[in-house]
Amino acid sequence: MKRQQVELRDPDGVLRIAWRGRELFRWSWRPKLLRRVLPAPFVARHVEYSLIASPDDDVQPSERLLNIILPALQRAASLRLDDLDRRVPADLPYPPSRWPGEHYRLLMALVAVMQPRCVVEIGTACGMSALALKQLLPPDGQVVTFDLIPWQQYPGACLTEKDFADHRLLQYTDDLSDPDLMQRHHALLRQAELIFVDAAKDGIMESKFLTNLRRISFMKPPLLILDDIRVWTMLKVWRGISYPKLDVTSFGHWTGTGLVDWLGTP
Ligand SMILES: C[S@@+](CC[C@H](N)C(=O)[O-])C[C@H]1O[C@@H](n2cnc3c(N)ncnc32)[C@H](O)[C@@H]1O
Repeated sequence: MKRQQVELRDPDGVLRIAWRGRELFRWSWRPKLLRRVLPAPFVARHVEYSLIASPDDDVQPSERLLNIILPALQRAASLRLDDLDRRVPADLPYPPSRWPGEHYRLLMALVAVMQPRCVVEIGTACGMSALALKQLLPPDGQVVTFDLIPWQQYPGACLTEKDFADHRLLQYTDDLSDPDLMQRHHALLRQAELIFVDAAKDGIMESKFLTNLRRISFMKPPLLILDDIRVWTMLKVWRGISYPKLDVTSFGHWTGTGLVDWLGTP
């Protein structure tokens, strides 16, 4: 059969016209149209579209979640992140210690309260959250962080070889939205007591990851922290979680921080 030469695709509000596989035209019409129809009613450094919805027809938080978050918030209020702040440019308007707004102090406080021996993070990036999660780990605890990009190749990486020297921080470059790779790490994942997901935020990767997570036979029910839950592409993923959950955005990352009592009952 003759190869199709002109391709017209518009799967996600981005119109693409390609000729013999080569992209000739690309137009992100949806965000442009949205900004025109629904202009932001104020000016800010960074704005994102979101949606608010009734919580009474969604899953409620469990007692366990409340028992973790309440002391964690108290702890976060008095934590300092001087070491992390020193690792970013001094003029950054949102240093890691900025809280609420950034999630690093909350992450550190959750570790302080839960004292997990195994923390799994999806989305290392420059290493800031991995370092925050490591700060108050128990002596026999470990943070295992996953990214598609090795930290050494990440632009602006805050990590150094020294951070890995005590073997309490480890990175894998595997994609856990792939069920086979998830199964390869099953022995590690079943030990996870705290799982922090801050990765693609396209809602597709997270949905696949959560499906794979359902196949893990956990030693004990972990606490799942999901970043960016208020971002448009993540709204459906968050709403679709059927375990007890709590939106703690006001005390976490401004793009949305959600806590899930994975395997728990409301
Ligand atoms: C927003 S950054 C993470 C920021 C970091 N957690 C922090 O707070 O300092 C998102 C990261 O997720 C990574 N990522 C995207 N898709 C991924 C996947 N399927 N598995 C693992 N990491 C992924 C990206 O490469 C990027 O480094």
